[in-house]
Amino acid sequence: MQSIEMNPEAAVANLTRRSWAEPWKVKVVEPLKMTSLSDRKKAIAEAGYNTFLLRSEDVYIDLLTDSGTNAMSDSQWASMMMGDEAYAGSVNFYHLEEAVQKYYGYRYVVPTHQGRGAENLISRILIKPGDFVPGNMYFTTTRLHQELAGGTFVDVIIPEAHDPASEHPFKGNVDLAAFERLIEKVGARKIPYITIGATVNMAGGQPISMANLREVSALAHKHGIRVILDATRAVENTYFIQQREAGYAQKPVATILKEFCSLSDGCTMSGKKDALVNIGGWLALNDADLCDEARNLVVVYEGLHTYGGMAGRDMEAMARGIVESVQDAHIRARIGQVEYLGQKLISWGIPIVRPVGGHAVYLDARAFYPQLTQDEFPAQTLAAELYENSGVRAMERGIVSAGRDPESGKNRYPKLELVRLTIPRRVYTQAHMDVTAESVLDLWQQRKTVKGLKMVYEPKYLRFFRARFERL
Ligand code: F0G
Repeated sequence: MQSIEMNPEAAVANLTRRSWAEPWKVKVVEPLKMTSLSDRKKAIAEAGYNTFLLRSEDVYIDLLTDSGTNAMSDSQWASMMMGDEAYAGSVNFYHLEEAVQKYYGYRYVVPTHQGRGAENLISRILIKPGDFVPGNMYFTTTRLHQELAGGTFVDVIIPEAHDPASEHPFKGNVDLAAFERLIEKVGARKIPYITIGATVNMAGGQPISMANLREVSALAHKHGIRVILDATRAVENTYFIQQREAGYAQKPVATILKEFCSLSDGCTMSGKKDALVNIGGWLALNDADLCDEARNLVVVYEGLHTYGGMAGRDMEAMARGIVESVQDAHIRARIGQVEYLGQKLISWGIPIVRPVGGHAVYLDARAFYPQLTQDEFPAQTLAAELYENSGVRAMERGIVSAGRDPESGKNRYPKLELVRLTIPRRVYTQAHMDVTAESVLDLWQQRKTVKGLKMVYEPKYLRFFRARFERL
């Protein structure tokens, strides 16, 4: 940190706001290994320039993901001793069910080991080969489960979502005309449901508005199409509704969340994000018959319908995490930290996705490296450079993540070529954010001389996890 050399009067005059701070204090610390530039050069080369293949012990500030990387509260840790590890009917399942019913408002809850477990169940239950599944931009695992069930994903997000510079306050909104055109083209019977991501991860953590979801829901239901919410970051989405949408400023996020979910017929959930745990998820539904099918299938793929792949203690921690996650003070500090990092980069003229998203700051790699073609992997390159520079681990969200079209086998060329600096909940301090921002600034200043990468190994599914690269 820099020393501030200013006379006291000027310093006071410069103080234009009252700071806020996190509504918690630190009780346990986890030491981090400090590495040298030569250590990091070696580590990233050994990892094939893929940050997923680094060992976490070689990482200083881990912004790979906000998934399962949350710090649990003392109450959550204490509750882990209250795990009822019965095979069937664990008391912790009932606590989880109650929490989901109370805060999300759905009738039935089927636990799964994490979000993709729930995606697998709903895709198998509702999608027939030849069906189409529209959504407000794809998410990797969600779309893959839809494709494996024989469906085709169709992106119906508004065009602003593909423009990193657009300041649209709800870039996660559905383009209703595009959704309607799809219904006209393929017929409602070929559309089992529409998936609504909240917030939209691949668009930069951008929210969907209540008004838009209400219209989507009305249009879908008019045609007998279900609305399935990806509620993974729905609490974060409701915070943006509170901040940006008329009529919600005075309402607590818990109230907004319930209204939001009431516009859908069910949700898939990765508890590893909003719900402040390290593992867990669920599928929630309002329809008894669908729930019965989900309970039939969950025992095949996850575990009995009262544990779904989780230990009793994990379900207990998630039940408590849900309650903590919907507190206004928590969510303001959580998103406030992301905003802090984002605003710092914006103030230095560094190109990031605007407005700053809920769980991450996304660097616009195309704007960093206009000299690289998309086949030279600008975002993959930037993520590798960042690790080398400071030991900060980020994630590629561009052509590598987009993968290949299952029919043609050709690379998909997404408009967005991004590096995601994802902030785990309740884990890092403001000083960690400063170190990260300064490292990004260093890369921005050196951007003109950077060369790209070539892919030398490509796995069949979700290639971004294990692909390997070499420097050009
Ligand atoms: N939906 C969204 C919007 C997600 O971001 C994720 C996971 C999932 C579903 C799948 O959940 O991992 O529990 O199976 N996203 C992580 C990420 C991997 O880093 O963004 P899961």
